[in-house]
Amino acid sequence: MTSLASTIVNTVSFEGQKPGTSGLRKAVKVFQQEHYTENFVQAIFDALGKNLEGSTLVVGGDGRYYGKDAVQKIIKIAAANGVSKLLVGQDGVLSTPAVSTIIRKYKTLGGIVLTASHNPGGPNGDFGIKFNCENGGPAPDAVTNKIYEITTTLKQYKIVSGLQVDIDKIQSVSFQVDGKTFSVDVIDSVQDYAALMKEIFDFESIKKLIQGDGGRPPFQVLINAMNGVTGPYIKQIFGKELGVSDSNLVNSVPKEDFGGLHPDPNLTYAADLVNAVKNGPYDFGAAFDGDGDRNMIIGKKAFFVNPSDSLAVLAANLSVIPYFKKTGVKGYARSMPTGAAVDRVAQKTNIECFQVPTGWKYFGNLMDAGRLSLCGEESFGTGSDHIREKDGIWASLAWLSVVASLGKSVEEILLDHWKTYGRNFFTRYDYENCDADKSNKMMEYIEELMKKPDFVGTKLTSQSKTYVVKEADNYSYKDPIDGSVASKQGLRILFDDGSRIIFRLSGTGSSGATIRLYIESYESDPATFTQDPQTVLKPLVDISLTLSKLQEYTGRDKPTVIT
Ligand code: G6P
Ligand code: ZN
Repeated sequence: MTSLASTIVNTVSFEGQKPGTSGLRKAVKVFQQEHYTENFVQAIFDALGKNLEGSTLVVGGDGRYYGKDAVQKIIKIAAANGVSKLLVGQDGVLSTPAVSTIIRKYKTLGGIVLTASHNPGGPNGDFGIKFNCENGGPAPDAVTNKIYEITTTLKQYKIVSGLQVDIDKIQSVSFQVDGKTFSVDVIDSVQDYAALMKEIFDFESIKKLIQGDGGRPPFQVLINAMNGVTGPYIKQIFGKELGVSDSNLVNSVPKEDFGGLHPDPNLTYAADLVNAVKNGPYDFGAAFDGDGDRNMIIGKKAFFVNPSDSLAVLAANLSVIPYFKKTGVKGYARSMPTGAAVDRVAQKTNIECFQVPTGWKYFGNLMDAGRLSLCGEESFGTGSDHIREKDGIWASLAWLSVVASLGKSVEEILLDHWKTYGRNFFTRYDYENCDADKSNKMMEYIEELMKKPDFVGTKLTSQSKTYVVKEADNYSYKDPIDGSVASKQGLRILFDDGSRIIFRLSGTGSSGATIRLYIESYESDPATFTQDPQTVLKPLVDISLTLSKLQEYTGRDKPTVIT
């Protein structure tokens, strides 16, 4: 066994190493600065304190540019900091749901996920580092704040510079570092995750759906990995296990720069999936983001399933999935801006339903406490307590399970759902890359307006529709399990008919500011169900834009993305 010694490197602390909604996310060029990545990794290790010595950690990411460099740095720094073993995905590749799976399966102290999720990659794109805890979920605010604090005063990091592991091949290697054994297991990226999916779902019934059975024609699926990490996962799961032909698995070779695409599964950035399904014979389309935790689901002719509706439909049909037959349904949850369709399912079934701030990390405590089975976010995230991350492939398998069991098309399933529960119309407007100062000013302006004593009760009118303000606040959340409080999570204007306007600044961008405007309104009249949400919600959109003076503050006369 090779014997090696750690050394201490003097460094200077960097400003702004503050994890956002989901880890530290910056331009690749920022991470490539001398010591920048090393500092942040050392800060993670320092934050783990005594638990680090002798621990096992998982390391992997979405395969984007700079990922392999970062893995090598983490290996060297982990070895020097007393970590006993690293489980590293082959080629440094693990989807975010796979990292969560592996942390839980092998009961490790946590994992480091190398991803900027749905942000573009490549030398001019973004990179990110996120720490997940031993429950498999993103570190809560208390931990990320601690990491950040440490980065502000960090002066040294420990490293074993001479340590090199070939992560391209599956192998197990050990070294003597400072007299102790340090091992790296390079593991298959897909195997553990695929095995979990087979435990959760009835693959036979999904396979029969896809291949046609008992006179039922094949249900044609088109899966798009957006050149992200899910490529090898969909080839194994949809291809080998479920018999989907290769030609129906597109963009399934992971690329360091995602082929120049913006790997975010929505109507704008996954337009090629939408067009292919619109003009092709497909009954179902799904796309996933760069690191595999987001999903978009569409039906025949590209019938769009809004993520808020997707969550509600799955909630109403969870019992068709073997996993939930076993565990029962403990509770539902959604993030605050997410449309409240799931709340109606919860009400009807008398199951607890939680509202948390934006960010998957807020679901973890509820799951660990056995209060939550299924949750989702408007930002194309859906998942369950099988792991502690949202899970794109899981969501598409859940949908296929529901289709197989109900024997209906995606559109029919939605129409039936609305007939039972009514429809929560929802839309989100994104104004990407705005000037940060001006965006903050706009948020301050809105908040001031909302705080005025007579704001509650104000009547806001557009196109002969009038809405009366019932409540307005800057959303704050107290975690029911540990009592921790997250404040300033978005400006909410709630109207007396249940409609809502929400303004929030994105926490996942790497430069400038992205303003998100979320609009929701509920309709129980079946005549409205097939209407375009953009038409139904237009009066509320106009009210929001006037009220916020968004155009005046940002100079934007239209959003970059509408969902
Ligand atoms: C990531 C997190 C999600 C969160 C989303 C919000 O994808 O994993 O949980 O909903 O970011 O991003 P935003 O840009 O709105 O802060
Ligand atoms: Zn993601």
